[in-house]
Amino acid sequence: MLDLQRLKQGKVQFSKVDLGQLARKVIIEMAPLAFAAGYTVQFEVDGAGEIDGDPLALQRALMNILQNAINHGGRKGIISLTSGCNWIEVSDEGPGIPADVRDRIFEPFFKRHHDGRGAGLGLNLVRDIIRLHGGEVTIDNRNPGAVCRLSFPLERAAGGDTPQRLARVMDSIASP
Ligand SMILES: Nc1ncnc2c1ncn2[C@@H]1O[C@H](COP(=O)(O)OP(=O)(O)OP(=O)(O)O)[C@@H](O)[C@H]1O
Ligand SMILES: [Mg+2]
Repeated sequence: MLDLQRLKQGKVQFSKVDLGQLARKVIIEMAPLAFAAGYTVQFEVDGAGEIDGDPLALQRALMNILQNAINHGGRKGIISLTSGCNWIEVSDEGPGIPADVRDRIFEPFFKRHHDGRGAGLGLNLVRDIIRLHGGEVTIDNRNPGAVCRLSFPLERAAGGDTPQRLARVMDSIASP
């Protein structure tokens, strides 16, 4: 999985990351979990795109989102992963996110279900990673389900100490 040691040491080299390839890798890795949990899985590449980033951190972020769809997506219906030129979307057909908690799901340790599953760090970590790539995470409800979108600037200006800041973020996160 993620080489946390490498990130801790600040030896993160941003490189060109093909979002379609990244999404394909994650879906291949996680589809068996989704099938076992009762979902159908769809994967689509809707336009090729490369961004500047750390492939392992981005993979970890996307895996968290997919794990959320699996854990919170109602255990039926379709989990769909689509990648575009500078974005990746993960949707499910579960209950979606209630309006009253929508603003708080990115807070560290926020969990709606206090059933002992997970540490509640998922979306907080995802947002940190995506922001360090100059991007944004949004989650919206569809009827039914939730759709989580990671979007990145098309041309990211070479950004100062970003890899070092990323290393510090990763340092504070325990491996799952
Ligand atoms: N696809 C989704 N559908 C419905 N609710 C969701 C979805 N994704 C996230 N949530 C809600 O947002 C909350 C925060 O998500 P987050 O990933 O940060 O924590 P978690 O999944 O509960 O725990 P962890 O990721 O640490 O295992 C979840 O507890 C859940 O209530
Ligand atoms: Mg989660």
